[in-house]
Amino acid sequence: FDTTNREKYRPVYHHTPTWGWMNDPNGMFYKDGVWHLYFQHNPYGSQWENMTWGHSTSTDLINWKFEDDVIERDAFGTIFSGSSVVDHHNTAGFGKGAIVTYYTSAGQAQTQSMAYSTDNGNTFTKYPANPVLTSEIPDFRDPNIIWHEKSQKWVMVLAEKSHINIYSSKDLKNWTFESRFGEEYGSHDGVWECPDIFEINGKWFILLNINPGGPFGGSATQYFVGDFDGHKFTCEDDKTETKWLDYGKDHYATVSFNNAPDGRIVVLPWMSNWQYANEVPTMQYRSANGIARDLGTFNYKGETYLSVKPSPEVMKAFSPKATGRLTDACRVDVQLRGNSTITLTNGKGEQVVIAYDNKKEELSMDRTKSGITDFSAEFPVITKSPTYGKIKTLQIFIDKSSIEIFDAEGKMGMTNIVFPTEAYNKVVVKGGKAKIYPLK
Ligand code: FRU
Repeated sequence: FDTTNREKYRPVYHHTPTWGWMNDPNGMFYKDGVWHLYFQHNPYGSQWENMTWGHSTSTDLINWKFEDDVIERDAFGTIFSGSSVVDHHNTAGFGKGAIVTYYTSAGQAQTQSMAYSTDNGNTFTKYPANPVLTSEIPDFRDPNIIWHEKSQKWVMVLAEKSHINIYSSKDLKNWTFESRFGEEYGSHDGVWECPDIFEINGKWFILLNINPGGPFGGSATQYFVGDFDGHKFTCEDDKTETKWLDYGKDHYATVSFNNAPDGRIVVLPWMSNWQYANEVPTMQYRSANGIARDLGTFNYKGETYLSVKPSPEVMKAFSPKATGRLTDACRVDVQLRGNSTITLTNGKGEQVVIAYDNKKEELSMDRTKSGITDFSAEFPVITKSPTYGKIKTLQIFIDKSSIEIFDAEGKMGMTNIVFPTEAYNKVVVKGGKAKIYPLK
């Protein structure tokens, strides 16, 4: 393969496969200072097909090294999404600190298979007793595993069409069905995919990706708040309300890294939408990941929500000194003074308009005139996010083909891709003050 970058839209500080198609992040874990990212990869073309697990590694969540593909199709099918755990206590018998990975084998049926690695995730051996879990239901996929401290067991969540199945295991090989969650909660306008489960500040959360059924059409990430005792997830949300982790249109299949340092919950989205992912104007590769984010919690009107902030590693990648120049790889911080409009433009008259409505407590981004938009009727949209009270500071991450907006306090995230024919080189702010921080 010729891997010289010929793509004007290839991002500078976001992960992309060197060649080929990419969708969901898979099996992510952190060990010995290295972040491992596996992903749904088509090594033979830039559209969705031939699902294989690609692999990239990073020590700073910004610079990624593209490694060899690690898990390839077999008699059970192609390799769909899944997760990894670091088996510190050798519960599975593959060795202390072995990486144990579960993925969906997509063949005649969808079944769950296991593979393990004794060289820190560089190569994997498939478990001879695969498949480990089977179902009568055709949509049965995306296993995600955590260690549940209180019950001293592994817990697996996986999506079965329109709900989540919860299993437990002592040895990562034999699984007991515990319970089912979700029929009565959240959005059901699509298939449930890629779940995740974790605890933050004494509350339990389930992340659940749905496609279609997102707030602006197509794919999006919802979440549920509650309690988990190792057997059953008890949700405390209002049944009529859906909580979205991100209110952009290009934030999907988001799940967390296993074994992240200091108990952090670090997540990575796939930055596209199934409505047009196969049609976006790139060739050599298709799709990037969003920047890494750290999740936390906040309260608003008596309810708990997930907060989302760019990971500290990502913040460190930007110079602490502001410059005057808008480039296609920078961060723009905006101090809001009530209603504000932030317009990014280029010499071609293409523009992105970000607006904060202080009364409605809502932030919007308009990409209808952002550049190339005609590859899909679903692309030119205005996305809107609630801000859960008034907000003061925005952090806007600009890369060659994406704009990610965060409230500095973590109360909202909005992830959108854009394809300007020329880089935006000017920012005009009404009702606020912008400072531009270049990538170091
Ligand atoms: C989500 C998804 C998963 C599946 C994978 C296949 O984007 O549909 O449910 O495992 O992609 O590539």
